[in-house]
Amino acid sequence: MSGPWAPDFFWREAQRLGYVARSAFKLLQLQKQFKLIGAGASVLDLGCAPGAWLQVACRSLGPLEKGGTVLGIDLKKVHIPSHHCDSRVKTICADVMNLRKDQARAFSPQGMGFSVILSDMCPIVSGITTKDAALSCELGKRALSLAIGNSSCKNSSEFLGSFEDDTSENGVLRRGGNVVIKLLESKDTEAFAKFCKQRFRNVSWSRPKATRSSSKEIYLICQGLRCCKFSQGDVACGEVGDFFINWWLDHRRMERRYVSWLDIHQKINQSIELHRNIFFLTILLILYLKW
Ligand SMILES: C[S@@+](CC[C@H](N)C(=O)[O-])C[C@H]1O[C@@H](n2cnc3c(N)ncnc32)[C@H](O)[C@@H]1O
Repeated sequence: MSGPWAPDFFWREAQRLGYVARSAFKLLQLQKQFKLIGAGASVLDLGCAPGAWLQVACRSLGPLEKGGTVLGIDLKKVHIPSHHCDSRVKTICADVMNLRKDQARAFSPQGMGFSVILSDMCPIVSGITTKDAALSCELGKRALSLAIGNSSCKNSSEFLGSFEDDTSENGVLRRGGNVVIKLLESKDTEAFAKFCKQRFRNVSWSRPKATRSSSKEIYLICQGLRCCKFSQGDVACGEVGDFFINWWLDHRRMERRYVSWLDIHQKINQSIELHRNIFFLTILLILYLKW
């Protein structure tokens, strides 16, 4: 066979190493480069069929005793591959475009959301570049909306659009979490990066080596969800508060931990108290030295 879909080096390597598709090498490269999935992570894999990313994600969780989960969702029914997957991998058959955030959250461990969301979803390619790119953008926006919520920050709804029946505002990505979204390159893709830069600590593009040269696909890598949106139990603190908390989290490199607003409030109070004491001691010292 010849042409763009002919078996190539990555196809043969996938066969040799027990991966169900050559796409495994894309996630392997992204994982090596960006360290997206940590041991014991909870991963949501959107558009998971035939299951190569499920295999790579499961391997990245580390040994079984480290825990973690991988939930795959696809329009097609997926048989969990026997190689590189274990009991931590589950799949469901659903259309992500119709999946509500509260439904997705219910599938996450203890309903606490996911630490990594991967979207390798792509539309059935028609060959009409603008149409394919627009459909891919829709899938990408849906993945992002599931991850961070529609009204997480200013202009979210404007960019992500609103999805019928999905009234839940909270996204299912945990604070500090990472997202990978496949898009077909077009004039609109740069807007994704611009939008995501306000919400994530690091945003970059990657075109893994296993991507076919004829393909327009490109991956948006977003790392470290900032605390734009507050999890259940937190208190929303408005724009100034958002800015301060983002700065504070960056400063303390604490994005990967769950930090509640109450923790931050306590730290601020401690800091105010310390500075007040220093101020009074300085006044006392000045008075003492004068008299
Ligand atoms: C390139 S394949 C994913 C390959 C997969 N990452 C792997 O490594 O095995 C894209 C998948 O996205 C799925 N997909 C496209 N639109 C979808 C939607 N609205 N909901 C769920 N899955 C979707 C397709 O069914 C297809 O299986």
